[in-house]
Amino acid sequence: MTTKFIWYGHATLGLETGGFKLVIDPFFSGNPAATISAQQVKADYILVSHGHSDHVGDGIAIAKRTDATVIANYEIASWFGKQGIEKTHGQHLGGGFKHPFGYLKLTLALHGSALPDGSDGGNPCGFLLTTNDGKKAYFAQDTGLFGDMKLIGEEGLDLAVIPIGDNYTMGPDDALRAVKMLAPKVVIPIHYNTWDLITQDADAWAKRVEKETKTKAVILKPGESFSF
Ligand code: NI
Ligand code: MN
Repeated sequence: MTTKFIWYGHATLGLETGGFKLVIDPFFSGNPAATISAQQVKADYILVSHGHSDHVGDGIAIAKRTDATVIANYEIASWFGKQGIEKTHGQHLGGGFKHPFGYLKLTLALHGSALPDGSDGGNPCGFLLTTNDGKKAYFAQDTGLFGDMKLIGEEGLDLAVIPIGDNYTMGPDDALRAVKMLAPKVVIPIHYNTWDLITQDADAWAKRVEKETKTKAVILKPGESFSF
């Protein structure tokens, strides 16, 4: 069994694992980097890392159209419930749950989480997924660097997906320090080049990663995928 990871641009991610389709932070409408529209997305599960509009994105519309289950922290899951989404699953930081697609744990993230209407989105999170065949993937989503990434790395990561855009999240220097703590087999950078404010040279960053660590850096274009 392989798991297919798709980068749709920005922090919008797709996963196909064991016959299940997941979309993480489903920001398609208004996302200058997105290569498909929200109407084209197929999803069994929608994961939302925090309340910002570039992460909640088209989550409500996709959930209504596809009947996907929304997984997020308790506050955001409850907010989706108030928007008429019946299938939600609230978790919280440090808590894991065995979903049909794998074991999903919510991890720490250093960021904000206000929802688009100003509601309290609780604490932002990242996701640590253990697939049904035992592969581990960490999706940091929006975060600054934090030392407990070392603890996440101790799980033994096949893949880490981390932001490098700077300004709102880690920039390239801190993202390189993150790779050293996470020590994944493969790292894929996200949350860059969506807007001028977060323009980065991902190829230059990848060269630094491969020079200074044992991790392989894979640079995707929006719409491209990587299987692990
Ligand atoms: Ni954000
Ligand atoms: Mn963001």
